[in-house]
Amino acid sequence: MTPEERTRLAGLASEILRENDRGTYTVPTKGLYPFQWNWDSCLTAIGFAALDEDRAWLEMETLFEHQWPDGMVPHIVFHQQDDGYFPGPEVWQTGRPVPTSGITQPPVAGFAARRIFDRSPDKTRFTERVRGLVRKIDRWHDFLYSARDPQGEGLAAIIHPWEAGRDNSIDWDDPFERVPTEGIAPYQRRDVNHADPAHRPTKEQYDRYLWLLEHFRRHGWNNAILHDLSPFRVVDPGFNAILIRSCADLAELAQALGELEIARSNRQRAEKGLSAIERLWSDSHGQYLCLDRVTSKPIDSASVGGVLAVFAAVPENRAQAIGNRIRALGSRCRYLLPSHDPADPRFDAKRYWRGPAWLIVNYMIADGLAAVGGAEMAESIRASSLALIKKGGFAEYYDPITGEACGGGRFTWTAAMVLELLNGGEAPERTLA
Ligand code: DGY
Repeated sequence: MTPEERTRLAGLASEILRENDRGTYTVPTKGLYPFQWNWDSCLTAIGFAALDEDRAWLEMETLFEHQWPDGMVPHIVFHQQDDGYFPGPEVWQTGRPVPTSGITQPPVAGFAARRIFDRSPDKTRFTERVRGLVRKIDRWHDFLYSARDPQGEGLAAIIHPWEAGRDNSIDWDDPFERVPTEGIAPYQRRDVNHADPAHRPTKEQYDRYLWLLEHFRRHGWNNAILHDLSPFRVVDPGFNAILIRSCADLAELAQALGELEIARSNRQRAEKGLSAIERLWSDSHGQYLCLDRVTSKPIDSASVGGVLAVFAAVPENRAQAIGNRIRALGSRCRYLLPSHDPADPRFDAKRYWRGPAWLIVNYMIADGLAAVGGAEMAESIRASSLALIKKGGFAEYYDPITGEACGGGRFTWTAAMVLELLNGGEAPERTLA
């Protein structure tokens, strides 16, 4: 790519961040997602840091202001009224001072905070603010390893597909069979007013998303009981890898700030998580798989969630096998990385998380691979990501076969990832020996 091209793309990316900036938080994109989303915000903060570090910390601080007393950080904060999105605060009814949703999302905050702080040219200026965040992130990790792992297995379960971020992944098809749809209140979707319905989850899936929401609402959003009461309890290797990585990164950050107890407990959580995630490995699929915690059986779905496990410091032989897996996936599509294997008849190139490529996932996987000597593969993933931008613009996600833009446009975290890619990415040190 020519230097002019790089400058042009960086300029466009910055423009999108500014356009979606609402002052103290950023919307993922206009129309489709008009509030603050949890993992969008944390990954966006990494992009903001390249433009304005103060604004990057503010993004995360705003999110964590809405942490629940039990430690959960909700997946949406409804900062203002907007009828363009469903389900809004009147459906969630979580009773928070500023309305929020009642479920969480992949905990990338520990990773994001360390990345931003490591690069900060002015650490002393931000130390106390970062310390405040570190304590809150620690409480979130504690929540996940208690409320979502009541037996102390070292693996947190999600109780709603939206918690994985991969809303309609093929991973959830089987456990979703257990989720009823009877009795849900009539509703009208709004997402399909903003994006092509063929790119979005189906009505059958929405009915189940809503049933779970109403079920949790009936139980007063009491996280002490929701895990056991949910017919949908899945241990997702992607979610857990993000959590493990965030624990390991938070430990480093806490250590640097002299928060020794937080450093110790997060190191311990990461170590326990790393040994527990091995239970999700599948030799026959050559990657990690989801585990259905209700049936205790692995879910036969080789999605990108099991590839994303390399974001945590998994053993080198696993990382190598994942490299092979990516090579195989790459031979079946033009652009890395499909969110599901195109060889699987259930693959759907344009439908959200059932096939399309996502830049945030590419970023995390490339980052993990680079740390274990997979620099070449990481480079191919980054090159593919930039090729997608050039072909489809700053989309929410992309058809991995044609590169066509899908979902929402002018997408904030895609823009943030482009800034990262143009910075050349980074091969971080492994934080666990
Ligand atoms: C949506 O509404 O599509 C979100 O992904 C759920 O948070």
